[in-house]
Amino acid sequence: MKNKRILITAGPTQEAIDPVRYLSNYSSGKQGYAIAKACIEMGAEEVVLISGPTQLEAPQGVQFMRVKTAEEMLAACEMALPVDIAIFTAAVCDWRPKHTSTEKLKKQDGQDELTIEFVKNPDILQHISIHANRPHYVIGFAAETEYHVAHAAYKLKHKQCDAMVLNDVSVGSGTFGGENTHLQLLLKGQDHAHDLGEGTKEELATKLLVYLSETIFCK
Ligand code: CTP
Repeated sequence: MKNKRILITAGPTQEAIDPVRYLSNYSSGKQGYAIAKACIEMGAEEVVLISGPTQLEAPQGVQFMRVKTAEEMLAACEMALPVDIAIFTAAVCDWRPKHTSTEKLKKQDGQDELTIEFVKNPDILQHISIHANRPHYVIGFAAETEYHVAHAAYKLKHKQCDAMVLNDVSVGSGTFGGENTHLQLLLKGQDHAHDLGEGTKEELATKLLVYLSETIFCK
């Protein structure tokens, strides 16, 4: 990781519905922060950590940018370019409300249902993968609950990245928000997943970076 400038996204995004409500997810940001810390420990020259709302403290030595929405995260990523390596761990909301109310949405008398229209958010990983200033290596994180390898392989190809880390976020896995994880890795051009095993998110962050350093970052 020596002499490398690295961009990492982490945490959830929050998409406002009105001044007191938002759409988000259970991501804690732990995996992304652990990767940022491991990059520093492995001698990276600069680590830019762009994080959605989390309860975590930024690791020492990183350039930290706090954002809320997917659109803010994309803008911050574009500002951070050029970088050598980009690792997208953020659980970006795929959708945002079409309209954000400036006033608190009130219940009407007799109202039993509420319909909110959503529009698609930009795909940050895909956007940066095809950017004129594309990082040398682009790594995504696929969160899957079924057909894990097939879905991750599709994302690797469709989002045009160099590697896709697969994590199981199905109910009972405890991954989303938890301390431990189990990661597998798919590299571009390979037809199988490499099992990085189970452990804490910190342990897996180091294992992942060591493996990537030995397989693709050295090319
Ligand atoms: N990602 C992104 N911007 C989005 C959605 C996802 O940058 N709007 C990135 C994530 O940071 C991750 C990868 O794409 O690196 C895969 O995210 P994931 O949530 O697993 O998949 P989605 O692309 O959202 O697809 P789906 O919800 O259909 O599983």
